[in-house]
Amino acid sequence: MKAICVDEKSEGFPLRWEDVPDPVCGAGEVLVDIHATAVNRADLMQRQGNYPPPSGMPPYMGLEMSGVIAELGEGVTNWQVGDRVCALLSGGGYAERVAVPQELLIRIPNDWDFVKAAAVPEVFYTAFVNLFIEAGLQEGETVLIHGGGSGVGTAGIQMAREAGCRVLVTAGTEEKLDRCKELGAEFGVNYKERDFAEAILEAYPDGVDVILDIAGSDYLARNIELLKLRGRLVIIALLTGATAEINLSFLMRKRLRVIGSVLRSRSLEEKAAIAQQFEQRFWPLLVNGTIEPVIFEVVPITQAEAAQDILAQNRNTGKVIMAVRDE
Ligand SMILES: NC(=O)c1ccc[n+]([C@@H]2O[C@H](COP(=O)([O-])OP(=O)(O)OC[C@H]3O[C@@H](n4cnc5c(N)ncnc54)[C@H](OP(=O)(O)O)[C@@H]3O)[C@@H](O)[C@H]2O)c1
Repeated sequence: MKAICVDEKSEGFPLRWEDVPDPVCGAGEVLVDIHATAVNRADLMQRQGNYPPPSGMPPYMGLEMSGVIAELGEGVTNWQVGDRVCALLSGGGYAERVAVPQELLIRIPNDWDFVKAAAVPEVFYTAFVNLFIEAGLQEGETVLIHGGGSGVGTAGIQMAREAGCRVLVTAGTEEKLDRCKELGAEFGVNYKERDFAEAILEAYPDGVDVILDIAGSDYLARNIELLKLRGRLVIIALLTGATAEINLSFLMRKRLRVIGSVLRSRSLEEKAAIAQQFEQRFWPLLVNGTIEPVIFEVVPITQAEAAQDILAQNRNTGKVIMAVRDE
């Protein structure tokens, strides 16, 4: 098969669509012919050698895919060759084929194309696990989602809206803020033009219950300032850095919880439990169209560098999808 390989010895880590060995389908796994995959921020780090795949996982980038089952491993009984599926991956989506544990497969609805299905697993699971499981977001609460225009943000806004929460966002452009409002955010701040904490406290003097953060160090003190009594801050990325100083007395007095969270390195059992809970609560809303993955652009996989550049330059609102096979 072919896969996107990183030329680690050349400047800029160029990407090449090259012949590589076919994956082997283990017991309890299926082999999928990939039709579409998606670009995630983590792929940019992996390309530069800063986010290696967990041991035993495919060496190629790609945290999700959609496609058609081509082979069944030993012990797989609920799936058939020819089934259309999508799944979260620990790696290997930037390729023509991948082996996937059966526990992570989702059946694609008949009226969905592969592009739409490839836009779901990574960002919807990430937003779901962090908002609803880690932070325990409840109906009637107020949530602030940083990077509202990101893939994760556009998924999180819609799920929080459907859960009966008030959603506030930050983003770096007016276009992204407008899109977030269309998706259900009631308030947005352009963090490049205004101090986000000042703007939010002006409009919401009581603060917020939950914050989903991607910035890390530069936002930590302000995030803590914004949280109400018993508020929860979930940090899922460190786009401004990993170290920060805070006044711990705020944590104590407001009885706050600060949670760090990653999805990729979780065990298969944990991921399967997340997939199952997501399938029960939000998958039906995706199937009936109440919630939609936001797709910014579709690019052929042979242009993976151009696809990643869109994320690197923060141009996307929602997902950038890569088509692996013609539909
Ligand atoms: N922990 C986990 O398990 C997990 C899983 C998935 C994703 N993530 C992380 O969650 C974030 C969103 O993922 P994604 O794939 O949806 O990303 P994405 O679509 O690439 O969006 C990321 C957005 O972050 C904003 N941004 C970039 N640099 C920033 C900075 N210095 N300060 C504030 N905002 C900044 C940009 O939007 P603006 O134009 O608004 O600045 C950018 O579009 C990523 O950082 C990713 O690594 C974590």
